Parts: sequence; C-alpha cells; structure tokens
Amino acid sequence: MSDEGLTRDIVNKSHKYNFFSWAVQSQAKPIALESGEGCYFWDMEGNRYLDFISQLMCTNAGHQHPKIIAAIKEQADKLYFAAPKFTTQVRAELAELLAEITPDNLTKVLFTLGGAESNENAIKFVRHYTGKFKIIARYRAYHGATHGAMSLSGDIRRTKIEPGIPGIVHVPDPYCYRCSFHQERETCNLECVSYIEEVIHYEDPDSIAAIFMEGVTGSNGIFVPRDDYWPAVRSLCDKYNILLVSDEVMSGFGRTGEWFAVDNWDVKPDIITMAKGLSGSALPLGAVAVSNEIAEYFWDRMLWMGLTYNGHPMSCAAGLAAVKVYRDEGLIENSGKMGQVMKAELAKMQDRHPSIGEFRSIGLFGVIELVKHRDTREPIVDWMSGETELMNRLYQELMKRGVYTFLTRNWIFMAPPLIVTEKELKEGLAAIDDVLSIADKAVK
Ligand SMILES: Cc1ncc(COP(=O)(O)O)c(C=O)c1O
Repeated sequence: MSDEGLTRDIVNKSHKYNFFSWAVQSQAKPIALESGEGCYFWDMEGNRYLDFISQLMCTNAGHQHPKIIAAIKEQADKLYFAAPKFTTQVRAELAELLAEITPDNLTKVLFTLGGAESNENAIKFVRHYTGKFKIIARYRAYHGATHGAMSLSGDIRRTKIEPGIPGIVHVPDPYCYRCSFHQERETCNLECVSYIEEVIHYEDPDSIAAIFMEGVTGSNGIFVPRDDYWPAVRSLCDKYNILLVSDEVMSGFGRTGEWFAVDNWDVKPDIITMAKGLSGSALPLGAVAVSNEIAEYFWDRMLWMGLTYNGHPMSCAAGLAAVKVYRDEGLIENSGKMGQVMKAELAKMQDRHPSIGEFRSIGLFGVIELVKHRDTREPIVDWMSGETELMNRLYQELMKRGVYTFLTRNWIFMAPPLIVTEKELKEGLAAIDDVLSIADKAVK
C-alpha cells in the first residue's frame, strides 16, 4: 500500500472503531503520526511539523527524549508492573524528587495516571482532611473530564455532565482583559479576590474545605494574574482556615519558567496536583503532592483512596527520567529565557497586527487574543454563536507552513517544548506573524 493509502486506511479504521475526544465524531480530522524528534513530529506521509504546543501542553522534554526512552526500556526489562501495595526504586526516588522540587511545605505524593485523577483524589484529600465539603473553583477553568474534576471545572464542558458533584461553588477569574468587575489590570483593587471573600461569607467559611485554582489558567486563555493575586488568595485561605490547591497539570514542570506556576509568586499551596509534564507524557502519570500536615494526618488514619496503577513502575520510571532531564538540562531556566524572547517578539507583532488585541505569556506559555477592534475588544469571531471559519483557516494556514498549534475561540496558543531553541521559537512565531495578515483583514 502507498503511504497515502496506508494513511487513509488508518484514519478510516480509527474513525470507524474508536472515539475522538471533544469532537463531533464525523468531523474529527485526525492526522496519522509516524514519529517525532525534539520539537518536531512527522505524519505518515513524511510531512514535518514544528510542535508549537507540545502536543497538548504536555511533552515538555520534547519528542523522543533519549534519556526517557532508555529509562522506560530499562524498567520494562526488569519489572513492568507491581501492584500498589508493593514499592519500587523508581516510585521511591520519584516521590523523593517531587518533595524536593515542590514548595518546601509539600512533603508527600499520591501517584495517579493523569490530571483528572489527580484532581479527583485532591477533592477527597481536602474533604477527608478538613471534614468540610464545599469547594470554591473558578468559571474559566478546566480540571479534567471525570465527574468530580469536571464538576470542579467551570468551563462550558461542565454543563454536559450536570448535575455534577454537590458542593462546588464557582467564582470569576483574573481575566483582566475582560474583567468581570469592569476594572483595568493596572488600577484595580483585586475586586476578583474581594468577591471570593464575599462568596466565602455567603457559603459559610466553616463549610468550605478548599479553593482550587489552576496555577496559571491554561486552556481557558492563559490568564497570567497580577503579582498580588495568588498571595491575596493565600491570605484569604489562611484567614478562613481553607486549604489552597493549585492545579499545575498544565502550568507545572517548567511551563511558566519555574517548576510550578505558584513559584512565580512564592506562594505555598497546601496541595499541588500535577500530570502531563511530570512524565513528559511519555507514559501516563499524575500525582497529588500534599503538605506535611495532611501527610501526618493520614499517618495513623485510613487513606480511603486507591488505584490499581498507583505508583505504576513504567510511568514512575518515565517520570523520574523526565524530572531529571528538566533539572539536569536546565530546561526550567531555558523556559524562562526563551519565554522572554517570545514576549519580546509578540510585542513587536502586536505593533504590526491590528488584530492582536492582547497577548499574554509567562515562560513558554502564551496566547494571542484576536479582536475585530482594539477599542471595543470585540472578539474577531463570534465564537459564542459557533463562528469558527476564520480560526479554522488560520489553523490550516499554520499547518501548511509546517507549524502545529492549538487555536480555539479567538485565541492562538503557544507552548513549545522547553528544549526549544531561539531559532525554532522564531520559526514558529514567524509563521504566526505571517498568517496574522489574514486575521488583520477581518479588523473593522
Ligand atoms: C489544568 C488542567 N487540569 C487537569 C487536566 C486534566 O488532565 P487529564 O487530561 O490528564 O485528565 C487538564 C488537561 O488539560 C488541565 O489542563
């Protein structure tokens, strides 16, 4: 069969026998992939793409990192599975390493196999530990697709599983470009935090177990909060005896130029949930890192949690290798350094393109927000009414230029692997710069 014939066969079989997530099934357009290396991947017809989004903000060490592959192979040869009541060297060493790189109040982890599972178990941790059941989370947030994690998520996908789990209360986000309180970032009084305090009173502080927030909001639009936002939320939690949980599934492991997004503001949450970059996504792995107080609480109490794949040796081997790669190859630092380059380039692009209403970025985590007019800030497409044509066209034009990234609503996301060089970064940004001339034509 020709390459083209084989590709068609694979895509057809995939469509016929398997589901694609978040898609009307008949409209899913999967590309059959063959291989990857560093910041690039190849489809089965030999086309090369620069991966400007680390697949799903998750291959932080790039594609096919040789040290991660070697660690997986070594573990597979020794022991590919151990039931969770046993332990292994990779499980012990990865847990110890995570205690080292997380804020110093976090001392112990529960391993899971992904982001949603981590948040599910974090919900159980905060409820069991505090004996309280309400949780405050934010509207423009995504915490995973399982029932509890989806209930926690405020974004529209939540409505499809409702009624969700009881006790979740949502509040607005620090989306300064479209502030719910009609303020401007430079001059506001953190009304979004004052409002959380108001909600705490309405709901009764004695019934609230925790506040859950993404370290930096990811798929809902990369909201980099003002420097005083996270410290103010921490203070609120301290004032009312509420636990603070940072979901670092997307913003963790160097994505923002620090190990975890909260490190940018020196905030110590009581729990961090993680996945994606934890194993560089070479194998599924997540974790819930908890404070010493929570760890001690469970020392002589039953932990009512369990997963067959808790501490899976293959995943832990991948995780241990990935975290060592970030540490030993200076990738957290590279993310910060390349993040500055990205920010400077985006500022120049904003001068050239009237369609850029705002760009937001921290480390290698960025988004361009496209508008019809800078004064009105009207989104360039009426995405709420399902208008997607222009954004689809921009996506296709980027693919034609060999650059793959994630576009949704009126946003173009940028999150290349942390190994990205300045040359590769500029290659991706140049393609975006080029296709933005199409967006500029829609400016009023
Ligand atoms: C912030 C955040 N939390 C949780 C999740 C869910 O992770 P998973 O898809 O591994 O369940 C995601 C996924 O994108 C995420 O971005």
